[in-house]
Amino acid sequence: VWTPGNIVDEQVEAIRRRVGGAQVICALSGGVDSSVAAALVHAAVGDQLTCFFIDHGLLRAGEREQVERDYAEGMGIRVVAVDESQRFLDALNGVSDPEAKRKIIGREFIRSFEAAQARLIADIGAEGGEVKFLVQGTLYPDVVESGGGQGAANIKSHHNVGGLPEDMAFELIEPLRALFKDEVRAVGRELGVPEKIVARQPFPGPGLGIRIVGEVTRERLETLRAADLIVRDELTAAGLDEEIWQCPVVLLADVRSVGVQGDGRTYGHPIVLRPVSSEDAMTADWTRLPYDVLARISTRITNSVPEVNRVVLDCTSKPPGTIEWE
Ligand code: XMP
Repeated sequence: VWTPGNIVDEQVEAIRRRVGGAQVICALSGGVDSSVAAALVHAAVGDQLTCFFIDHGLLRAGEREQVERDYAEGMGIRVVAVDESQRFLDALNGVSDPEAKRKIIGREFIRSFEAAQARLIADIGAEGGEVKFLVQGTLYPDVVESGGGQGAANIKSHHNVGGLPEDMAFELIEPLRALFKDEVRAVGRELGVPEKIVARQPFPGPGLGIRIVGEVTRERLETLRAADLIVRDELTAAGLDEEIWQCPVVLLADVRSVGVQGDGRTYGHPIVLRPVSSEDAMTADWTRLPYDVLARISTRITNSVPEVNRVVLDCTSKPPGTIEWE
């Protein structure tokens, strides 16, 4: 029978057998999946685990600080944050095709972990044992949507599955590969992962890079970050965090429309709100947010984010839309 306790016992045993005395690196994003994967591996091999949090420059406002705080307080796991934003922005320069972006981000994640691996080996020296395993919080839906499930089409290449380079220097440990998100949350609770991490809304590994329709630039990231912060702030203030699965905020960087502000004409970009309700992200419905919340979000964004002169609502279920726009 499936119980969170059984999964934990089974995985801990399997990970211990596979890893032996080797060192393990975990790709930690601060989200539910990688946190639970890290907790499982930590339960199995303890201090042989080092988690790396890659700041790829595609994070939301305050995210890195929040992860550093939550882990220091709650998990008792060693986390090293690395600033790799220049590497990712350079690699994404001039690219606007969604799948190309996903593959570049997946590749640069691995390159970043390889760099971290090299530093770790230099630090601990030969007696530290081999460093060849990389833990990822890949879930079953990531595998299916990347075309890895039985008879499945490639809908989009999740950064941790279809976006991986073939020549990487790692063997993967993916203890959640057969699970859905609600099951992962149950396993996390079983392992004592703090509720504020387990209950966190999903955020995609490729981050804001796949929420800018068009090329990714530092300026556009700033614009999207400012709008996203307002949306999260208003949804939390309205007590809607539990009702919604997640609410991507998307910048249509390749689209402009005419507006008027004060006495002047504007020619700015639209921001799309994509609030969704879901059980497992395989299907979703658009969340009927209260009009007054939408009104506050729209007013605040257009008043305080100069590049944005229009806020629009995505009222498409999945299918036919996906949750993220790219
Ligand atoms: P879609 O857009 O496929 O999203 O309907 C389904 C769920 O997966 C998240 N998502 C990702 N998560 N790496 C991730 O870690 C990815 O490459 C990725 N792409 C989408 C998305 O936010 C939603 O929760």
